[in-house]
Amino acid sequence: MVATAVRGDYPFTDRDFQNIAALAHENFGLFLEPCKKQLAYSRLAKRLRFLGLETFGEYCDMLRGPLGKDEQREMLSALTTNVTQFFREKHHFDQLRTAVLPELLSRSRAGRRVRLWSAGCSAGQEAYSLALTVLDLCPDVAQYDFRILATDIDPVILQRAVQARYPLAEREAIPTGMRQSQTIAEGDTFVMSEATRKLVSFGELNLMEPWPMKGQFDVILCRNVAIYFDAATQSRLWQRFADLLAPDGHLMIGHSERLSGPATAMLRSCGVTAYRKMQSGLAAG
Ligand SMILES: C[S@@+](CC[C@H](N)C(=O)[O-])C[C@H]1O[C@@H](n2cnc3c(N)ncnc32)[C@H](O)[C@@H]1O
Repeated sequence: MVATAVRGDYPFTDRDFQNIAALAHENFGLFLEPCKKQLAYSRLAKRLRFLGLETFGEYCDMLRGPLGKDEQREMLSALTTNVTQFFREKHHFDQLRTAVLPELLSRSRAGRRVRLWSAGCSAGQEAYSLALTVLDLCPDVAQYDFRILATDIDPVILQRAVQARYPLAEREAIPTGMRQSQTIAEGDTFVMSEATRKLVSFGELNLMEPWPMKGQFDVILCRNVAIYFDAATQSRLWQRFADLLAPDGHLMIGHSERLSGPATAMLRSCGVTAYRKMQSGLAAG
């Protein structure tokens, strides 16, 4: 690994960077290329300052020490971004509204269980955009076995998701009808309606670790999360999603992400960065 010299207050050797990169990879599947050395330095120097540490060597010892787990999460938060927005990559929500949800809702009305998953949900805007779309199509969805799970590794961002309160400026991204019926303005913020909040359950989950969910999912959105992972980790993740999807289930990924590995034999493209699981589990060549 050849890294470059970095500018800043703390010495940051190639060895420090390699230690951090190895730890981030082992625990979170994060891929820190050598060219990310300056970025890693600027994001993590803030942690050193906050913790009152003098060298990255001390920081690495802390990460690997008995209190390391909590600081590893802080490190992940510092190295990744939580950027998100309501109805981001709108084409997925259009596809869900016209081609995916009508069928799932009629199955739901017929008594079937339906599950959607926003994996790497950040502050919840993606999961609430799903809930708003579902409620718009089926205002009485609460009486069916229809749920949305939303997970993220970052407990701090999840607290914001559960609170469901956002700056008023973000409300503009929500289509007018849904904005009027399912959001409530309060000063310079707004909150999601109770009906919207009740559809979504939030939970902490590191996608690199075992998943506790038992049943299959009909739709999985994992968008703008795998970009941080190396190629092998991405392939494994796509395969785990494909395994967990119900036959005919949909996987939607981020605009700069590409499906790879064994999952490509189980899922076929059905839209922009959208895939559908084959009934047989194998995609036609
Ligand atoms: C850029 S946000 C994407 C949010 C949303 N999916 C979207 O597209 O707008 C990436 C999220 O992935 C989460 N994340 C990063 N690594 C993760 C991991 N190993 N397990 C679960 N979540 C992870 C981050 O905490 C962050 O909230």
